[in-house]
Amino acid sequence: MTANRRDSQSVPTAEIDERGSTAAADDRPLGSPRVSNPVIESRDLDVFYGDTQALHGIEMEIPEQQVTALIGPSGCGKSTFLRSINRMNDLIDVARVDGDLYFHGKNVYDDDVDPVALRRKIGMVFQKPNPFPKSIYDNVAYGLRVQGKDDGDVDEMVRTALEQAALLDEVDGQLEESGLDLSGGQQQRLCIARAIAPDPEVILMDEPASALDPVATSKIEDLIDDLAEDYTVVIVTHSMQQAARISDKTAVFLTGGHLVEFDDTEKIFENPESQQVEDYITGKFG
Ligand SMILES: Nc1ncnc2c1ncn2[C@@H]1O[C@H](COP(=O)(O)OP(=O)(O)O)[C@@H](O)[C@H]1O
Ligand SMILES: [Mg+2]
Repeated sequence: MTANRRDSQSVPTAEIDERGSTAAADDRPLGSPRVSNPVIESRDLDVFYGDTQALHGIEMEIPEQQVTALIGPSGCGKSTFLRSINRMNDLIDVARVDGDLYFHGKNVYDDDVDPVALRRKIGMVFQKPNPFPKSIYDNVAYGLRVQGKDDGDVDEMVRTALEQAALLDEVDGQLEESGLDLSGGQQQRLCIARAIAPDPEVILMDEPASALDPVATSKIEDLIDDLAEDYTVVIVTHSMQQAARISDKTAVFLTGGHLVEFDDTEKIFENPESQQVEDYITGKFG
């Protein structure tokens, strides 16, 4: 990523004026529940890859300690939006973010925000389990050691994180074995343990169960439900059934990178405002 709107070195002034004048054309999505104390607020967020615009004026308020699902057809910008929350798009050279993304009222794109520290507060779990080629223990301890925690504390925190990730029972006594020797479902729970060990507030999950079998998937779904007691979870899923099962709120993105409707999950699946959303969830397209 090269810049955001506030970085005047990389974005010519003329471009800022042009965008500013069109910003009002991007309405709030249908629904848009009032969230009294949002953890994350997206304001007129655009994301570009080179000259291609992947997201258009995303307006969204994500509630605390709930599960918010992002659904929509492939290529509609779900992963792009998720990555913009903890600045993972920074790692993509051609990506550029324009607009505002607030975490507890602080714009994460401000110059004084350290993206590495931000990602400890807003952790991420990916589609394909990606444990480090290290022991189970070291995978989970990784973020804690970076934070400079004492060894004694690390032991306790590793066990707590494994327990919260519903993995401790299965790996107790073998924490020195390689994380790569676990099954796919266990590896994904290990990655969840690694993400929660540094005590984040938000966990972003990008199709965390789509590479897993049904039994492993159901364990992850149960786990997400438990995690929402302590964390704010934002999950991308291509499975509408999964969104309906596990989320409190659902945001429907549609082709072209527009957030069309965002509301209580029940409302989205039972009585959406938008005909396009209705067509999508009833399988008429996508
Ligand atoms: N690293 C990238 N470089 C260029 N274009 C990308 C990149 N990642 C995603 N895109 C494009 O951005 C759009 C949104 O992609 P993505 O956020 O991955 O959608 P989704 O997760 O909903 O499938 C797509 O058109 C995709 O091709
Ligand atoms: Mg994706």
